[in-house]
Formats: sequence, C-alpha cells, structure tokens
Amino acid sequence: MSKVVVFHEPGGPEKLAVVDTDAPDPGPGEVLIRVMAAGVQPFDIAVVEGWLPLAADGPDYPRTPGNEYAGVIEAVGAGVSGFAPGDEVLGFNVLGSYREHVSMPADQVTAKPPSMPWEVAGGFTAPAQTAHIALQDMGLSEGETLLVHGAAGAVGTIAVQLARHRGATVIGAAREARHAYLRSLGAIPVAYGEGFTERVRALAPGGTVHGAVDGVGGQALDATLELVAVHSRIFTLVDHAKTSDLGIRTVPPKRSAARLAELADLYAQGRLHVHIHAEFPLEKAADAHRFHKRGGVQGKIVLTTDALREARA
Ligand SMILES: NC(=O)c1ccc[n+]([C@@H]2O[C@H](COP(=O)([O-])OP(=O)(O)OC[C@H]3O[C@@H](n4cnc5c(N)ncnc54)[C@H](OP(=O)(O)O)[C@@H]3O)[C@@H](O)[C@H]2O)c1
Repeated sequence: MSKVVVFHEPGGPEKLAVVDTDAPDPGPGEVLIRVMAAGVQPFDIAVVEGWLPLAADGPDYPRTPGNEYAGVIEAVGAGVSGFAPGDEVLGFNVLGSYREHVSMPADQVTAKPPSMPWEVAGGFTAPAQTAHIALQDMGLSEGETLLVHGAAGAVGTIAVQLARHRGATVIGAAREARHAYLRSLGAIPVAYGEGFTERVRALAPGGTVHGAVDGVGGQALDATLELVAVHSRIFTLVDHAKTSDLGIRTVPPKRSAARLAELADLYAQGRLHVHIHAEFPLEKAADAHRFHKRGGVQGKIVLTTDALREARA
C-alpha cells in the first residue's frame, strides 16, 4: 500500500487526511518514484483553501497538494530512456506530490546530486526554478542591484544566491531576526517598516535599484514601484492581478528538467545553500501547513516519508 494526503473539500489544514491506496503504475513516458521528501509551499495552502492553478484543469475531489518531490525510481513506463529503477531523482509537477509514490512524466525529473540531502531535494524544484526564471527573464547583470522581498523565504533564499552568482548586489528584505541569515547568503539585509524606501536607497550603490523579486506584495510592491525605474524588471510572485496596470511581470511557467538539472548542478558545486527550517512526516501534512501559516519561515519546510526514515536508520 502507499499513503496519499487528500482533502475532499476546501478549508484549512484540518481538511487534510491520509489514506492508503495502491501505488500507481507508470504510464507511457512516466517514471514511478518512491518519494523520500516533498516540499511544502504557500501554493499548497492556497490549493487546500480552494484555489486551483489554471494548469491543474480542475481535478475532482479528492485532491492531493504538492508541486515538488524527490525519491528513488521504482519502475519506468514504456518509451522512457535515460532513467532506470534505483535512480535518485527530484522533480516537479502541478499538484499531487504529497504521497509515498508518484508517477511522473520523465521529462519533469532530473538526477539528484549525491551530495544533495533528500530533504533539500524534496523542496528544491519549485523555489529554485521560480527564482531562476525571474532573474533570467529580468536579465539581471553583473554590477546591478536587486531587491528581494521575502528574502529569507524559499524563493528568496535561492533568488539572493543566484543574483550574487550573477555578480549583482542584493538587498534582502525580511524581519530583523532573519538578517544574519540573509548576510550568510550574501545579501545586504533591510528591515520593513517606516522609512523602508529611504533605507533601501541608502544601501544601494549609487542609490539605484535595477530590479526586484517580490514574494510579499502589498506595501512591499508599492515601495518597489518607487525604487525600480523600469517596472518591467519587477517580478511579483503575489500580486498577479496588478501586472498589466503597473507594467510589472509575473514569473512565467518555464520550468523544465534542463533548468532543474542546471540548478542541481549549481548545488552540487556548493554554490547554493538551502536551509531546511522544519521537517514533518507526510502523515503530519496538516501540522506542516499550520506551521507554515504562522509565518517566519526561513528557507524551506518539507514532508518526509517512511522510506527516508528507513534510509536514514
Ligand atoms: N515557491 C514557489 O516556487 C513559488 C512560485 C510562485 C509564486 N510563489 C509565491 O511567492 C511567495 C513566496 O513564496 P515562498 O515559497 O518563498 O514562501 P515562504 O517560504 O513562505 O517565504 C515567504 C517569505 O516572505 C515573508 N513575508 C511574507 N509576508 C510578509 C510581509 N507582509 N512582510 C514581511 N515579510 C513577509 C515571510 O516572512 P514572515 O513569514 O516572517 O513574514 C517569508 O520569509 C508566495 O506568495 C508564493 O505563493 C512561490
């Protein structure tokens, strides 16, 4: 049997339940993965509350949240080449990864670097690709200055580091308790609150901010509009409805196995660090959501399975 986290109607974390099913068979072009870890995202909490991404196309209840996973391939479907049972992989999807076995298209999976811990791999693919796409589409260059809102969160953690690798100065906005963490990632920390815009200008070389990744929205976005002259270099992760009015941008759906492989390689080279704030057993997905909703996440929250606990024993 294989455990799956499901919910039958929208609501809070209390709607999440764990049921036993048969492990799925891999269809043509798919790989069956025994999941070791799966990431928890704000996206998942919104899905449980009833929101559905367009790409999900309205699957019937029960639904299973989760867009990222890492595990060991158990079987490959017809037509799959390049993967075999026993391969350690990480990957992405839209919904459905809070489970012990996932069957996923092989082109949404890449090899896990041996040096990448399972808990990191499980929560890597969504924030890393989101940050990477944003900076690439922004065309952030060496010598420029980037402002990251929610810099201590999952996307922010990676965005700060990728921007530093591009040779940019990074100003990371977060609560003060996270400032030492932001410095460790290579960012200049800045606190929210009154005088925010002036503080950022004072920290930015020449007083200029060239681009922004906004994982907070609202007042953070208002300040960003004052700080970044070219609004098309502001990428919001939150205020999607405001993009056309303000001339700012969202992160387009450009996830790919090739992009993920590039990011996994950066991790293997020791050039990316991912802090795991908390791990919860898959069966405690509701507690993971409650923990996330309290705020203050530094890095990433992940769900782990019995398979990982067996591997660690
Ligand atoms: N993960 C992805 O791949 C992805 C993709 C697309 C869009 N997004 C969206 O991007 C946003 C960030 O995602 P994430 O995964 O990085 O989330 P996360 O790990 O929860 O991090 C969000 C960060 O923003 C901070 N924050 C939120 N509201 C704030 C406020 N009003 N003032 C100051 N700080 C605030 C949080 O700190 P505090 O809790 O301490 O305030 C936290 O450090 C979410 O809205 C998410 O839905 C994420």
